[in-house]
Amino acid sequence: MAGRYMLREARKVFRFLEIYGVGRVIYKVNGRIRTHISFPTWRLRKATEGVGIIGCGQFAYSTIAYYLAEKGISIYTCYDTDIDRSKSFAKAHNVSKISKSIDEVISENEKKYIYIASNHASHAEYAVNALIRGHYVHCEKPVAVSVDQLAELRRAVKSGCGHLFAGYNRPFSGAIRLLKSVIKDAPGPLTLSCFVVGHFLPADHWYRNKGEGTRICGNAGHWIDLAVHILCWGTLPDKWGIHLTWSNPDVRDENVVITLVSERGDLINIVMSARAEPFEGINETINLQIGGVSAKIDDFRSLTIWDDDKIIRRKYFPKDVGHKMSVLQMFCRDPAREWREVEISTLLMLCIAEMVERGYNFKSFSIAEECRRIC
Ligand SMILES: NC(=O)c1ccc[n+]([C@@H]2O[C@H](COP(=O)([O-])OP(=O)(O)OC[C@H]3O[C@@H](n4cnc5c(N)ncnc54)[C@H](O)[C@@H]3O)[C@@H](O)[C@H]2O)c1
Repeated sequence: MAGRYMLREARKVFRFLEIYGVGRVIYKVNGRIRTHISFPTWRLRKATEGVGIIGCGQFAYSTIAYYLAEKGISIYTCYDTDIDRSKSFAKAHNVSKISKSIDEVISENEKKYIYIASNHASHAEYAVNALIRGHYVHCEKPVAVSVDQLAELRRAVKSGCGHLFAGYNRPFSGAIRLLKSVIKDAPGPLTLSCFVVGHFLPADHWYRNKGEGTRICGNAGHWIDLAVHILCWGTLPDKWGIHLTWSNPDVRDENVVITLVSERGDLINIVMSARAEPFEGINETINLQIGGVSAKIDDFRSLTIWDDDKIIRRKYFPKDVGHKMSVLQMFCRDPAREWREVEISTLLMLCIAEMVERGYNFKSFSIAEECRRIC
């Protein structure tokens, strides 16, 4: 039995090497088993003493820390409610100081870069505290799990003290950036279809907790945000109908179809399937049509665009889901993504999360009206 398990895990590592490349797989594997290794420091610069990590789980370990190291950026401090997580993270990534509280991470007043990758319910409060101090803040998705949290976050952003960046990474993927350059002036309506095979989560996984926003905030938010991002390349219709169909009324946040139809005739369809653990991890197939352009993204490993009589084909190795650019947003000179897009996608996501919680299959949604709730 143990032998079969080991063989399966070894095959998974080989498959991941084909998808992510050697460096990232070493980080991913170590993030899971938390060996006592320290990654080499020769690439790291000392100049970025201000980087702090809140939440030292798998994402911070295998994605945030990986891309910071690749860019040569060292991490000064880290904090996690689980001290063993902080310790293993600090040892692996040569972090100078383990903080014992959130205040310790954000209290210093010099320019700081804070990454928030903790549980979903804690994101907004941590981000507000860090923004008020004037820090640069990367907040992982979802940026809020309630409208009140989003309103408070908005106030902190508008105060102009700090700078906020959201961890929704799909808009930063090579495929979506290339698509934008091709269809940026195409008139709507848009048809967008996302078929997502998500992780199989145990019944007691923290993502499922109501207070954490369920899998709608934990997973579906990505494709809701991507849809809003693509719609914002043109004009965004105000009025939408939201239709939900779930396969199991007792577990409504997975194996669910989310359909959004706008007053202009835009049609967005997100199928979230989680029947078994996908061997290669999460897998997404995205198709869209707008004006004379059609496109197909196969798991962010390949893209085909048909633009009238032209055809564009791209392959992405390693798989480019946009994590690198998303993680490094705070250090880039490019204009940041419009915060308004993230607010709108979060409002839409929260509305869908509420529908799932209450068992509503249909709701009308006005972007203007919803935005007034957070002003
Ligand atoms: N952008 C993406 O593609 C992507 C992918 C995976 C995860 N994420 C996000 O990253 C974050 C972490 O996810 P993960 O997969 O690493 O989960 P995880 O469970 O591996 O890690 C979460 C960590 O946060 C710690 N924690 C919990 N509550 C805390 C609190 N109040 N304060 C400080 N630390 C706390 C836990 O002890 C744990 O170590 C989540 O917000 C998740 O949605 C983003």
